[in-house]
Amino acid sequence: MGKKVTKAIFPVAGMGTRFLPATKSVPKEIMTLVDRPLVQYAIDEAREAGIKEFIFVTSRGKGALEDYFDNSPILEQELRKKGKDELLETLKATNMESGAIAYIRQHKALGLGHAVWCAKRLIGNEPFAVILPDDVIAAETSCLKQMVEAYEETGGNMVAAMEVPPEKASAYGVLDPKNDMGSVIEAKGMVEKPAPEDAPSNLAVIGRYILAPSVMRNLNQKRQGAGGEIQLTDAIAEDIDQGVPVFGFRFKGKRYDCGSKAGFLQATVAFALERPDLRDELMQYLQDVTSSSNAAQ
Ligand code: UTP
Repeated sequence: MGKKVTKAIFPVAGMGTRFLPATKSVPKEIMTLVDRPLVQYAIDEAREAGIKEFIFVTSRGKGALEDYFDNSPILEQELRKKGKDELLETLKATNMESGAIAYIRQHKALGLGHAVWCAKRLIGNEPFAVILPDDVIAAETSCLKQMVEAYEETGGNMVAAMEVPPEKASAYGVLDPKNDMGSVIEAKGMVEKPAPEDAPSNLAVIGRYILAPSVMRNLNQKRQGAGGEIQLTDAIAEDIDQGVPVFGFRFKGKRYDCGSKAGFLQATVAFALERPDLRDELMQYLQDVTSSSNAAQ
């Protein structure tokens, strides 16, 4: 039912103030979990889901991000000379073929909805995915791939959703469920950062979306929502009134909020523990620090 999704927007124009001073000169998306920048996880997830065109919405100071996806001939030559084939392969996985990647500037941080709207001309009249690289999801099958498969059945709009403790719901976009079918939940509404007493559920929307072109048309109105920002949530919710359904998707996997320091640290530990070359040493270290901090209490 849903059309094939081949384009993804990566809105990375935010200021990343929660990571200052680091983000004064380093884009948040280039910060590394173990040895790979956040953006590499996002790209790998998109590729696994069948995405062919990668559209980055950037801003001033994000040059390192553009360089990251470029070939690095001098480095490659050096690694080849030294016979470091494994590193050479690792490096090649970061190159993007010419024409597959595009960068658009958002000149002012007017909100996530506005950032998505900036990619309007490159999207045209097709469904598209949106990936926020600071939501990192560890999953056997990538979250976006799970969503693409579900979307093929449902069409409409689809947002990744997860249950959060009720007191945390006001930090997210929240779904107002109409029909809970298990992994797919049809919504009758959606509200961005509701006051705790107004949250319609504890089903929070996180940074993966498959959206209909009608959402771009809704964003054309550039209405300000919560926090004075142009909210993507509002533009998606408008579609419900216009008869285009919105589905939440309960993905299988664990999401880390790498836009926050605590989430970033947790992801660092979790991803490092998955690595055979780091696991034992890190585990030993964690046991040592936890037992010495328990002893100190
Ligand atoms: P956040 O709310 O996490 O904001 O944006 P931020 O600027 O990245 O980080 P803090 O809160 O200041 O620490 C969620 C996503 O939306 C993008 C961000 O880059 C991030 O991927 N975004 C947000 C834009 O691209 N443009 C905007 O105007 C706002």
